[in-house]
Amino acid sequence: MTTTGEHDVVDLLLEQHNQIKTLFAEVAAAQGERRLELFHDLVRLLAVHESAEEQVVHPAARSKAGDAVVEARLHEEDEAKHALSDLYDLGVDHPEFDTGLATLAQAVLDHATHEEQEEFTRLRQETSPEQLRRMSGAVRAAEAVSPTRPHPGAGESALANMLVGPPVAVFDKVRDAVRDWRQSNRD
Ligand SMILES: [Fe+2]
Ligand SMILES: [Fe+2]
Repeated sequence: MTTTGEHDVVDLLLEQHNQIKTLFAEVAAAQGERRLELFHDLVRLLAVHESAEEQVVHPAARSKAGDAVVEARLHEEDEAKHALSDLYDLGVDHPEFDTGLATLAQAVLDHATHEEQEEFTRLRQETSPEQLRRMSGAVRAAEAVSPTRPHPGAGESALANMLVGPPVAVFDKVRDAVRDWRQSNRD
């Protein structure tokens, strides 16, 4: 939290890195319907997180960390999106789901570590607190279309209203919302 009570974008993204790690472990430990529900939560959380990074963090990091670093991160995000799609197509009860999930979890956590070391640190050092707070709007815009924290026991109708479906479609919808936000919040 900042002194004004607003989060800066790096705080939010770091918190989400922890949530992503926890959620991967929860999906791995769950079974049946609960596992499917948690897998959808994971898709939504990754869609929100990666869309916000793609639209505001990576562009800002280009001048600070360099094009090669940013291109590598974008490539990892694209690979993760496709690995999620493969898992979605496989289904949570498939015997190969566990291995695929574990591989993806490791790749996503390595990706997060690279971001923290190569992008977030410099972004925080070289961007004004005001700008970092403004960039957090991208995360809120993404969460508006895809809530990342469904309430336990919210009931079937609440679940039905949440954005579910093939991961690529979820990612596209969230990215469009963040892109709209960015276009209407240009400096
Ligand atoms: Fe990322
Ligand atoms: Fe990240």
